[in-house]
Amino acid sequence: KQRVLTGITTTGTPHLGNYVGAIRPAIEASKDDSNLSFYFLADYHALIKCGDPEMVHQSTKEIAATWLACGLDPEKVVFYRQSDVPEIPELCWLLTCLTAKGLMNRAHAYKAAVDENTEAGEDPDFGVNMGLYSYPILMAADILLFNANKVPVGRDQIQHIEMARDIAGRFNHHYSNKFVLPEAVVDDNVAVLQGLDGRKMSKSYGNTIPLFLPTKKLQKHINKIKTNLLEPGEAKDPDTSTVFQVWQAFATPEQVEEMRAKFQDGIGWGDAKKELCALVDAEIAPAREKYEELMGNPAVIEQALLEGAEKARSYATDLMKELRDAVGIRKII
Ligand code: TYM
Repeated sequence: KQRVLTGITTTGTPHLGNYVGAIRPAIEASKDDSNLSFYFLADYHALIKCGDPEMVHQSTKEIAATWLACGLDPEKVVFYRQSDVPEIPELCWLLTCLTAKGLMNRAHAYKAAVDENTEAGEDPDFGVNMGLYSYPILMAADILLFNANKVPVGRDQIQHIEMARDIAGRFNHHYSNKFVLPEAVVDDNVAVLQGLDGRKMSKSYGNTIPLFLPTKKLQKHINKIKTNLLEPGEAKDPDTSTVFQVWQAFATPEQVEEMRAKFQDGIGWGDAKKELCALVDAEIAPAREKYEELMGNPAVIEQALLEGAEKARSYATDLMKELRDAVGIRKII
C-alpha cells in the first residue's frame, strides 16, 4: 500500500483553507483502499509559533474534532497527536545531527523572519527561536518515521518535503538505506484559498473564515471578504474575486458557470455573498452538527487519539530500533 501522510499545526481554529486544501482531499484519499493514511495533529510544531498553552490545547481539541466530524474513520486511518509518539522527537535528533546548517539557512519560514527583521533594521535573528530554525527537521522526522511515500500538502509546504527527501538521502547514504524518499503531492485542482483580505487564508494573517461557524456568523464573516467598489449591475471580474474563488472551491462545475454568468450580469456583492454563504453552509452543516457533538464530548476525541497513538507507535517502534542500531546506539553486550 502507498503510505499517505499529512499534518496540521495546532495553532488555531480550523478554517476553510485547511478544509479545502488539506482535510477534504485527505479524507477522500483515505477512502481509497490502495492507500494507508497517516493523519496527525502537529502540536510540537505549534510550540514554535505559539507560546499560549491554552490556545495550543484548545486548537488540538478543535482540529481533532474537525477531522472526525468531517468523516475521518479512525479504524481505517492512523490518526494521532504528534506528541503521543516519542519516536518522532527521538528521530528528529538523529536527523538534526546529520542535517547541514546551510540547508536550514535556506528554509522559507526562517528566511522570511530574517528578511523582515533586516528590513525593520533589527538584528536578523531577532525573535527567531531554534524551533523555527530547525522546523523542517521535525517535519522530516514526522514523514520519515512512517516511511510515507506521498505527502499531500499546499504549495507553501513543498520546500519542506524536498528538505525531508534531502535529509533522508543523506541518512541512507551515510548509514544504510532505511528511508523511503517521500514525494510532495500538490493537487492543482485544489485551490490555495484566499482569505478575507485577498491574501492566502492563514492563521498568521488573521484573515480566516473558521470552518464551523453557525450560519449567521458565517454570513457575517463572508460579508467581510474584501471586494472592489462596483455598483450592482456593473459586470464583475470573477477571476480576481475572492468571493468567486471560494465559490469555486465548493461549487459543482455547473454552479461555477452559473456564478460566472451572474458576475458578468453584474450581481450585487451582497447577493453574491448570500449565495456563497448558503453554498458553504449546505456542505458543512452535517459535519458542523457532529463537530458540536464531539466538542461537548471530549472523552470521545481523546479516546480516538490514544488508540491512534498506539497504532502509530506500532508502525514506528521497529524502525526506530533499527535506526538507533544503525547510528551505533546499542547495548554494550
Ligand atoms: P498548516 O497547519 O499551516 O496547514 C495545514 C494544511 O492546510 C493547508 N492550507 C491551505 N490550503 C489551501 N488554502 C489555504 N489558505 C491553506 N492554508 C493552509 C496547508 O498547505 C497544509 O497542507 N508544517 C505543516 C504541518 C506539518 C506537516 C508535517 C504536514 C507538520 N509536519 C508533515 C505534512 C507532513 C503546517 O504548518 O501546515
